Amino acid sequence: MSIFESLQQYYDTIRFHMPGHKGRELHEPYGVSKADLTELAQTDCLHRPSGMIDQAQRRIAQIYGVDKSRMLINGSSAGLLAAILSGFSPKEKVLLPRGSHLSIYHGLMLQEMEPVYIYPDAEMWAEAYTVTMEDILTAEKEHSLAGLILTYPTYLGTCADIKKIVGWAKNNNKICIVDEAHGAHLAFCEDYPVAAERVGADIVVQSTHKMLSSLTQSAMLHVAQRRVDIEKLDMYLRLFQSSSPSYLLLASLEAAVNYAEKNAKKIFEKIASARKEFAEAFADGKYFLWQPQTQYDYAKWVIGIKNTDLSGTEIQRQLSLKKIEAEYAADEFVLAYCGIGTTKDDIINLIRALNEVQPIQKKNVDKAKRTCLPAKAQMSMKEAAGQRTEYLFVREAVGRIAADFVVPYPPGIPLLVPGEMISEEIAQVILENIESKKTMIGIQNSAMKVVL
Ligand SMILES: Cc1ncc(COP(=O)(O)O)c(C=O)c1O
Repeated sequence: MSIFESLQQYYDTIRFHMPGHKGRELHEPYGVSKADLTELAQTDCLHRPSGMIDQAQRRIAQIYGVDKSRMLINGSSAGLLAAILSGFSPKEKVLLPRGSHLSIYHGLMLQEMEPVYIYPDAEMWAEAYTVTMEDILTAEKEHSLAGLILTYPTYLGTCADIKKIVGWAKNNNKICIVDEAHGAHLAFCEDYPVAAERVGADIVVQSTHKMLSSLTQSAMLHVAQRRVDIEKLDMYLRLFQSSSPSYLLLASLEAAVNYAEKNAKKIFEKIASARKEFAEAFADGKYFLWQPQTQYDYAKWVIGIKNTDLSGTEIQRQLSLKKIEAEYAADEFVLAYCGIGTTKDDIINLIRALNEVQPIQKKNVDKAKRTCLPAKAQMSMKEAAGQRTEYLFVREAVGRIAADFVVPYPPGIPLLVPGEMISEEIAQVILENIESKKTMIGIQNSAMKVVL
């Protein structure tokens, strides 16, 4: 079967995963080939915009209330790389939660920075850990920090006190980069946690495709502070983005922001109030929507499971048989992402299908722990990646130094980065992930790359 034929098999599913349009054509571009163009006199140039792209970027900046916006066609990944390389100098120290996305580590590696990690406590899911002011003040006592990189909201929707943190960063002359890959909708939703760009974070990067309706791989970068060196930032964007930017992605970004400006508030309000309907439907407590201690994004439904022997992974499997596709699942929950394309019927179908899940004798257990275990860096990421290497079975790699990233996917949070010592405990978590059949970047046939 061709790639396209395989994709077609998926056309009639109800999607609670990214992208945010959920497979619906909410706006143009409709017929793709005619709009698939290259840089021409009429089509402006992403890398030196002065026409329609420049106008679109100015309008996006106005809508998001920021100084400058940039359209990205290589995802938030490219935006985060450019933000890190333009925002910091080599060897500087930067504070970040260890549960950050792989693309941030790539930026730190290229800029040869010294990361200072905030680790969640052992019981906390890495995908949900948010940074507190206390974490920042403790780290600041020990390290001379050039700035911080926050993930806001996290993959599971938790949100730090962004206003306080950005205020502190400003007062203390620290650069604050926000990975808002999962939060392009926040700026439109008054009742949701405030958007980082609205409180003046220096650089905010958003995957518009994740919660809003642009095509996968399209994203945006916002500069909310004048102190950012925009020329340097643009230079790095040219470095990390294709020299043949897709006009389909650009057109879909512009249309998605226009669509969100008109519709996001209402749609995301409905999604937030549908949480109540979910709670009423499961008043027996079989399922519940997780309510973290922090503020959180109401569109990310972490569906907890009570009074049942089933794991989240098994529930995800049974939903999929009914053509309802979740974003992610773990032992204790199923993650359903509502986006701008989510409809009332989608939610009714999800509730119905959850009600019909069959208890089965044998749990489909996902044993992999999803905490971030502290790992000791023996050399920098860049240094380790440049060494001669060998492959070893994970068990035999204990005590050696990782030469590559080891990353369960999704959500893309590294268990190990190059240069870190492979401890017994971390090897065990890697083995649990392998046993649970997780997609693991950096693992091949149960072996991993170590420094020779
Ligand atoms: C928290 C976070 N940041 C950044 C990214 C990278 O975004 P993109 O896929 O748009 O490059 C992801 C992707 O999953 C993510 O989850």
